[in-house]
Amino acid sequence: MISLSDLKKRKAEGRKFSCLTCYDASMAKAMEVAEVDSILIGDSLGMTIQGCDSTLPVTVEDMAYHTAAVRRGNKHAFILTDLPFMTYATLNDALQNSKTVMQAGAQMVKLEGGAWLAETVEVLTRNGIPVCVHLGLTPQSVHVFGGYKVQARTRETADKLIADCQAVVDAGAAMLLLECVPAQVGKEISALFPNTPVIGIGAGAETDAQVLVQQDMLGLTFSHVAKFVRNFMKEQAGETAIVDAFKAYHAAVLDGTFPAPEHTFQIEL
Ligand code: KIV
Repeated sequence: MISLSDLKKRKAEGRKFSCLTCYDASMAKAMEVAEVDSILIGDSLGMTIQGCDSTLPVTVEDMAYHTAAVRRGNKHAFILTDLPFMTYATLNDALQNSKTVMQAGAQMVKLEGGAWLAETVEVLTRNGIPVCVHLGLTPQSVHVFGGYKVQARTRETADKLIADCQAVVDAGAAMLLLECVPAQVGKEISALFPNTPVIGIGAGAETDAQVLVQQDMLGLTFSHVAKFVRNFMKEQAGETAIVDAFKAYHAAVLDGTFPAPEHTFQIEL
């Protein structure tokens, strides 16, 4: 199983690692076969699995349930799990809720925020819980931002983001995740912290790792698709491969060509 020190070693050696979101055992197994290095059980499951409009309704019990399923399906990848909205607002909540997801199989927790999280990061780390801090566009604060917008576009706001990264790294953050920031900012922050892997999503090509939401890269997002998403399914199998399989199944059931004799059991006489 890939460990945090393996990922830090990758960074030290200038080798990137891959990360995808995952929420269930079958997809986790497929990612094991594909040798994906790390898996994020993201609170994006609020949208991808639960059909909500945002990540806000997701609970820590949801995160633990999906983390356990993914861990059972994948024994290879490094697993990090989101603490959802308002589950780390106090130190005690952060500790108790981290305990829940770590006991479900996470190797690290991810929290959204900045310098104000420093004490939480320090306390969790002291208690044996490695922390990844998610900065830039932080979806749990969508109502503060007033929408999903690119962050740190000016020198001034980029410097503020860098100061936030510095504060959480000083407090012990073992990993950073940058979402929706200019490529120059992703590059600068990755270079600034030699011992702290930086995962990017919409943060350019020069972060230490990349993450995508599984449904986005499989072409299974039917609402707005962000500029930073690449549909790998389209390149491998055609834009609508999964929808086409559902259509073919539906048609085969209706016209009676499925199940065929090879899918059918016969009585032994
Ligand atoms: O919840 C999630 O899937 C995430 C990614 C967008 C990085 O935090």
